[in-house]
Amino acid sequence: MSKFVEEIVGLISKETGLSKVEITGLVEVPPDQKLGDYAFPCFVLSKKLKKAPNQIAGELALRLKATDLIEEISAVGPYVNFRVDRAKQAELVLARIFDEGDRYGSDECGKGKTIVIDFSSPNIAKPFGIGHLRTTVIGNALFRIFRRLGYEVVRINHLGDWGTQFGKVILAYKMWGDEEEFLKDPIATLYDLYVRFHREVDEEPGLEEEARGWFKRLEDGDEEATGLWKKFRDYSLREFNRVYEMLDIGFDSCPGESFYNEFMDQTIEQIEAKGLAEISQDALIVDLEQYDLPPCLLKKKDEATLYATRDITAAIYRHDTYEFHKSLYVVGSAQSLHFRQVFKVLELMGYKWAKDCVHVDFGWIKFRQEMMSTRKGNIVLLEDVLNKSIQLARTIIEEKNPELENKEEVAKDVGIGAVIFADLATRRNKDIDFDWDQVLSFDGETAPYVQYTHARLCSLQRKYGRPVSIKIDYGALSTDEERALLKLLEDFPRKVKFTGEAYEPAFICSHLIDLCSTFNRFYQKQRIITEDEDQTAARMLLVRALQVTIKSGLSLLGIKAPERM
Ligand code: ARG
Repeated sequence: MSKFVEEIVGLISKETGLSKVEITGLVEVPPDQKLGDYAFPCFVLSKKLKKAPNQIAGELALRLKATDLIEEISAVGPYVNFRVDRAKQAELVLARIFDEGDRYGSDECGKGKTIVIDFSSPNIAKPFGIGHLRTTVIGNALFRIFRRLGYEVVRINHLGDWGTQFGKVILAYKMWGDEEEFLKDPIATLYDLYVRFHREVDEEPGLEEEARGWFKRLEDGDEEATGLWKKFRDYSLREFNRVYEMLDIGFDSCPGESFYNEFMDQTIEQIEAKGLAEISQDALIVDLEQYDLPPCLLKKKDEATLYATRDITAAIYRHDTYEFHKSLYVVGSAQSLHFRQVFKVLELMGYKWAKDCVHVDFGWIKFRQEMMSTRKGNIVLLEDVLNKSIQLARTIIEEKNPELENKEEVAKDVGIGAVIFADLATRRNKDIDFDWDQVLSFDGETAPYVQYTHARLCSLQRKYGRPVSIKIDYGALSTDEERALLKLLEDFPRKVKFTGEAYEPAFICSHLIDLCSTFNRFYQKQRIITEDEDQTAARMLLVRALQVTIKSGLSLLGIKAPERM
């Protein structure tokens, strides 16, 4: 809580006898800054005192006395409004940021609690496509945000490495596969084989049965089947890791769906013991009709277990292992129904913690321009998108700043940052319409714009050439833009928390855009380094605070902040 709110709560509590907790919940920020910085609505007191709220507000405003932190107290209608002391406000926020540096926004609220995040989770033997961008970058941002809020965070990559399709891939590989070709481009080769299988099965329906046989052998631990499957998995992971390295993303555990095989019987026994399972059309299901959900399929007639069974098992395993406070699934909204079924079955099994499982869903991503088509069919490869973005960034940098020293590194930071930001800045529930011109624009709501502003703030500090100090005249920061910037800076930690609560990195994105555009407006009007030493020193402290806050925000999103661009 800000020092100002604390002070206001103390004052009101002393005067009215209301509890501090209750008052804290009531204090709000007025819609119009002219009214004040904070407001206390008097409706609650009205019942207690049997007087009109307007009258209470008037009387209360008269009795409350201004303090060091609170400069002015007045009543407007049913509200008591508070104006904070500007210089004090500036001092508190700037000194704190100076202290915390680019860890500004940290909090202890998650201490002692664990959050498990299931994200990215691509399917082996399939190209790592743009369809997995959102889960990958949203999951990573949430990891960084919760870690900053003091939580223990476990990142899980629930690789899609099990299911009947692997019987098809194994069979296709045995019939038409070529080792050399496979080693050159493993995923593409496997995917081609998979596509070919589906073509040929039309002509020769017997293949379907044969593939099922291979999956059965895989499930039974047959050596040849397992050997091939392992090989496909290893090579797929190697390719996925290339993308994770580009994005600078890691995992704490990468068990994959197959990991849960050995616990599956136990899950089914448990569900049966609870009397939840029944046979329907030769399959084992949990009927969820009374919850308005389609039945949850546990086992098919050939005994093969299913995606949902594996998720139920994985959820229990995760709770046993991590005793999580929350277990998040960052997965597209196309799977909403699946997660509702899984969470419902867990609840029916008697797991109270089922309510702590959250499907963090998101919309589709579309490309406005044609992406180069790959031999992998119509799938747009994530790696291609990242490389193209780096290439475009390189061209722009070459144009804007040909002298730049580490151009290659900056092009990578900007190109990749642009893709991540374009994704995160879009609210989760909205679809993304990906447009290269917009994504890489240096003056739109983009990563390059934020990174460029950050580099400008760094350059100002280099130009100043002296250490920035907190011993300044805080009253000197008095223009409208400076005040607006101080307010945005002060609000940053609250925004970080809010982002965590809503699982919505877009809030941090828009806060960064606000910071940058307000600063750039200021910078257009005012010179920062001038003859006036006191004013310059004050503005430089503000510059420094902005720079580290922007760096902090970008790092929460998983985006780099180069010092020169
Ligand atoms: N492999 C799945 C897919 O690509 C996503 C898995 C998400 N996580 C989970 N626990 N179901 O669609």
